[in-house]
Amino acid sequence: MTWGWIQGGHLLVKRVLHTIAVNTPVAVYGNAPELAIHLRAWCRTQGHAIEIAKTTGGPVAVIHRGSAEVGRWRGAESTGDATIPEEQAHAYWGLAGRSATVEAGAPTFNFPLDTRVEVWAKEVAKLYAQAAAAQWNPATAIPWEEPFDLHDEVEDAVVQVMTYLIENETAALVIPARFASQIHPHFREVMQLLAIQAADEARHIDVFTRRALLRRPKLGLSTAGGQSSLKTLIDETDFALSAMLLSVLGEGSFLTLLWFLQQYAPDPVTRQIARLVGQDEARHVTFGIAHLTQHVQKDPMLLGRLADAIERRHDILANTAGLNEEVFDALVLIAAGSWEPEALRIGWNKVQILIADMNQGRIHRLCKVGFDEASAQVLSALHTRNFM
Ligand SMILES: [Fe+2]
Ligand SMILES: [Fe+2]
Repeated sequence: MTWGWIQGGHLLVKRVLHTIAVNTPVAVYGNAPELAIHLRAWCRTQGHAIEIAKTTGGPVAVIHRGSAEVGRWRGAESTGDATIPEEQAHAYWGLAGRSATVEAGAPTFNFPLDTRVEVWAKEVAKLYAQAAAAQWNPATAIPWEEPFDLHDEVEDAVVQVMTYLIENETAALVIPARFASQIHPHFREVMQLLAIQAADEARHIDVFTRRALLRRPKLGLSTAGGQSSLKTLIDETDFALSAMLLSVLGEGSFLTLLWFLQQYAPDPVTRQIARLVGQDEARHVTFGIAHLTQHVQKDPMLLGRLADAIERRHDILANTAGLNEEVFDALVLIAAGSWEPEALRIGWNKVQILIADMNQGRIHRLCKVGFDEASAQVLSALHTRNFM
């Protein structure tokens, strides 16, 4: 046989060695000039014994297969089962996929969220698959061209609500994007879910912006109180506490707001946006509740930390305005649909019902995570008036 070692010849030798028992001799033939030198070096790294032939005309060398444990893969580590993650992921597993064999000496990485209890939920793979299947195209999923007539002030109200939604969505993008980079890749489904959640939020920012600018040259008002509320979310660096504040309470309240907007949207574009965004948000809330519930079951002390985080945030925001008046008024006008006093009265009542529904939703979700009804009521009442 004529072949060169560095031209893939080693694959033939490896292939044969894989099929035979330890210590079985294999004769290697070939006529590449440096073949014997390459074979010797390779066998040394792989832990195989080798005799170089002294005569010409026969095999170049005879290799005796060594034990699989010697050589380059000595000390290699398995990263566990392909489907079920370990309790603790190790820094030296690095970027390797779950169930890969990692060569000894691979670099260590710093992924601070490296335990299953902190990040995992048994539903996570299913939620990721649902999210991947449910991605929608903003260009085609929204009826941008559909004609509609709106009173100028109702259009302004829609623009104001969109302005508010955009900054909330921006916080909701930044936070999972940051945590995605802190999750140990061993828990890849969580990392993937957070990445697709960030992509959902990117799409939400896109469609809210496009709706706001559909008939107006610029956005509305962004208040100090609204941004202060969102800053407390961004400033929370603990994954569990952030999941409570952002996903369970914030996105949970937003879900109710999106249903409200879907119901009372004054135009087909806003209605369809609220419907599609609401579907995405429901997944975000589901994951937040799922992993916190499972975390609390393993570590009941977490409930106290979650309650403290809600109280702390309330105290920080105690002197801010909460929901901006412009957003509140815009929601009333959207729900009223006109400036008739009776319509405005009904619109105002609908917004009161919205706020009560949000509160009920938060209490329900807090109970799911593990709080008793009375604590859930107290904690829900402490939630930011900015909704998110
Ligand atoms: Fe969103
Ligand atoms: Fe979200």
